[in-house]
This record gives sequence, C-alpha cells and structure tokens, in this order.
Amino acid sequence: MAALDPNKEIPQHIAIIMDGNGRWAAARNLPRRDGHRAGAASVEECLMVCGELGVRYLTLYAFSSENWKRPEAEVTALMALLAHFLKEKTPSLMKNNIRLQVIGQLTKLPERNQKQLRDTTEKTKNNDGLTLVVALSYGSREEIVDAARQLMEEARAGAIDPDDLDAETFSRYLYTAALPDPDLLIRTSGECRVSNFLLWQISYAEIVITETLWPDFRREHLVAAIAEYQCRHRRFGGL
Ligand code: IPE
Ligand code: IPE
Ligand code: MG
Repeated sequence: MAALDPNKEIPQHIAIIMDGNGRWAAARNLPRRDGHRAGAASVEECLMVCGELGVRYLTLYAFSSENWKRPEAEVTALMALLAHFLKEKTPSLMKNNIRLQVIGQLTKLPERNQKQLRDTTEKTKNNDGLTLVVALSYGSREEIVDAARQLMEEARAGAIDPDDLDAETFSRYLYTAALPDPDLLIRTSGECRVSNFLLWQISYAEIVITETLWPDFRREHLVAAIAEYQCRHRRFGGL
C-alpha cells in the first residue's frame, strides 16, 4: 500500500467523480442499480479516511445535469438510494462531526429529496470537522450561466459595476462560493474526462485517474491518490 509522506501536505479539498457503477454491476450480471448501491460503501470509506487524515472538504459528483437523460427507472433508483443513504447515515454524520452541503440545481430533484437535503444540511451545519459536498443535478456550465445571469441582473439593477468584475468576484456567484478550490481531482473507472464537473474550480487541481471502478474504491485507492498528489510539484503558473 502506498505510504503518505508526513512532511508533505494532505490536500485540503478532494473532489471525486465517482464513476463505473454500471460497469461494476454489468461485470457481475447485476442490474445497474446494484452498482450504485454498492458505491455507497465506497462513500462511507472515503468519509472515514478523509476524516482521519484531516482533509477539510470532500466533494462527490453524485448526479450530473446530463444524468437526467438516463432511463427513468435508473433515475428513480438513484433518488431512492440518495434518500436511503441520508436516512441511514445522518446519525454517523453527526457522530463524526461532518457537515453536509449540496451544490447543483436542486429544485430539479424530487421534493422529498430536496426536503431531506435541506433538513440534513440544517442539522449538520454547526459540525466543524470534514465538510461533505454532494453535487446533485450539477453541471458546471449551468453553474457558470446561473452566476452570469445573477451578475447581469445585479448590473441591470445598478448594484454592481461591470468594470469591477474580476475572477475573485465571479467565483462568489458560483454554487461553491464558500468553498476553496479542489486541490486534488480523482476520477474512477479510467475515463479521462471531466464531464461538466467544477470546470472553473479545477483550474489548478492535480488530477488522478484510477482504473478502479467506484464500488471497488477503498482506503488504499484513496491513499494511493493522495500519495501521488504529494509527489506532484504545483507551480500555479510560476517557477
Ligand atoms: C457513476 O456510475 C454514477 C452516476 C453517474 C450516477 P455510472 O452509472 O456512470 O457507471 P458506468 O460509467 O456506466 O459504469
Ligand atoms: C459523471 O459520470 C457524472 C457522475 C459521476 C455523477 P458519467 O458516467 O455521467 O459521465 P460520462 O457520461 O461518462 O461522461
Ligand atoms: Mg459513467
């Protein structure tokens, strides 16, 4: 198992594109939904490891704005899984001092999910350990367009001068306004693309792609990704 270097920093913010649930299920002749269900154990393990290592933010891509194109039965199963996960795990979020936040176009989710997400966010808001950010009905282009729309409205109302707009101000209009940018972006299942995830925020993230399918992703895979991060030399355009 890869070892972490105690003299090097742990990423403050890790973002994960949790991919490969369908292929995991297909390899076992199971319905895709069983792959999604199996992925919940990987989420739990990542929460535990991030908590232990002192990672401050973990952002998980759980459902994209494009995933609405999937068959209705799969979408329904994913929403049911989300509801089940929150119901089961809220006590452990409290016990482990984890704060839940959600990003995405949440009003597109079924009302039952929206309410539960609001309740859990409210219940965990004073926890000051790890912040778990779940991206749901999330698309980075939609997020950027929403920010632009809000800025245009404020400009039209005379509340903001277009000449004052800079990247720092713009980022405060994104769903992630209160979050630092990810340091490390992990994608499972070997796909080498970002699929409309945090396009703005990952400008300088270190990217690690692993062949491991999400339901198989365990402590050793996360530690290996962090160990790889520790070997990178981040320059941010400087020397
Ligand atoms: C990721 O697994 C979960 C979601 C996108 C909701 P997939 O369902 O995309 O699994 P593959 O890519 O088909 O294997
Ligand atoms: C990205 O995975 C979205 C999530 C993991 C939630 P997809 O499986 O939807 O992405 P593509 O279609 O392979 O790009
Ligand atoms: Mg996929």
